[in-house]
Amino acid sequence: MSALPMSRPAPADPTLDLEMEIRRLKKERDAVVLAHYYQESEIQDLADFVGDSLELARRGTLATEQVIAFAGVHFMAETSKILTPEKTVVVPDLEAGCSLADGCPAPLFGEWLRKYPGHTVVSYINCSAGVKALSDVIVTSSSAEVILRQIPDPVVFAPDRNLAAWLEKKLNRKFVVWPGTCVVHETFSEKKLIDLMTRHPEAEVIAHPECEERILRHAAVVASTSGLLKHVATSPKTAFIVVTEEGILHQMRRAAPKKTLIPAPPDADCACNICPHMKRNTLEKLYLCLRDLAPVLEVPEDVRVKAKRSIDRMLEMTAGLLLSPAGSRS
Ligand code: 13P
Ligand code: SF4
Repeated sequence: MSALPMSRPAPADPTLDLEMEIRRLKKERDAVVLAHYYQESEIQDLADFVGDSLELARRGTLATEQVIAFAGVHFMAETSKILTPEKTVVVPDLEAGCSLADGCPAPLFGEWLRKYPGHTVVSYINCSAGVKALSDVIVTSSSAEVILRQIPDPVVFAPDRNLAAWLEKKLNRKFVVWPGTCVVHETFSEKKLIDLMTRHPEAEVIAHPECEERILRHAAVVASTSGLLKHVATSPKTAFIVVTEEGILHQMRRAAPKKTLIPAPPDADCACNICPHMKRNTLEKLYLCLRDLAPVLEVPEDVRVKAKRSIDRMLEMTAGLLLSPAGSRS
């Protein structure tokens, strides 16, 4: 029998109770599990903290454990490594990318930036460490508006053109924009959304700002994942059409079990409103990364130091935005 390639871990024993094993390994490895809302529900339930990108970045810096097991996509775990280089950051699947980050390679971005001297470079956190290193400040969907209100023009905004358009409209400004999009949020169908709104006139449309303008114009609330969750939990409304990746529905159902939640349909007859990158992570891969303490996420030190400056600037400029208590279970 041929040997397994070195990079592939030995599979989990199929008789194991993975949830019990993950709980055991968290203690044994002195690990904290951080998860994004788009992870499958079993992973969210085992996590010590579930949050949006800003909250996850912050929560990583507060970890007392030596190991951070990050169930999200690559740029999220990378952000934790950039902020806490002394920790071991492991991920269930190193290949869990993001269309926004992948569509904005650092060398191309650096070249493009040369056309805009004197601009403040504001980058959405959904980008690589290399792009963060070329940026002046990082923003997330929950912090972008607060941060941009503190930054005068001219501004270069990358890599999400939909978030940029939403901010431009909100702030009545114009930015130089890198034309990236999220493969998940651009799939929602306006026609199907209008049909749903007609069939459920009592339901409020709530959407993530990575959606296109033709979708956002129908939304009563546009916010980050945590913002949408908080709105569902606290609003007097009892029904919502939710226009974002459907993983968030798990926490919404927990926070507001009696409310009606209707996921918005994608354009085609597909499961395109499910992030294929986020869903690369499975319970088994989470178990394996804790068992083997691999794969480990590393960032070259020179890139890390430069990228940290732009993330630190975001954290300083959003010191008043607190961690959502809804996401915390530790
Ligand atoms: P949030 O920061 O709102 O959780 O968004 C992250 C993301 O990747 C949405 O697609
Ligand atoms: Fe990236 Fe879109 Fe997936 Fe979020 S939902 S991680 S922006 S591909």
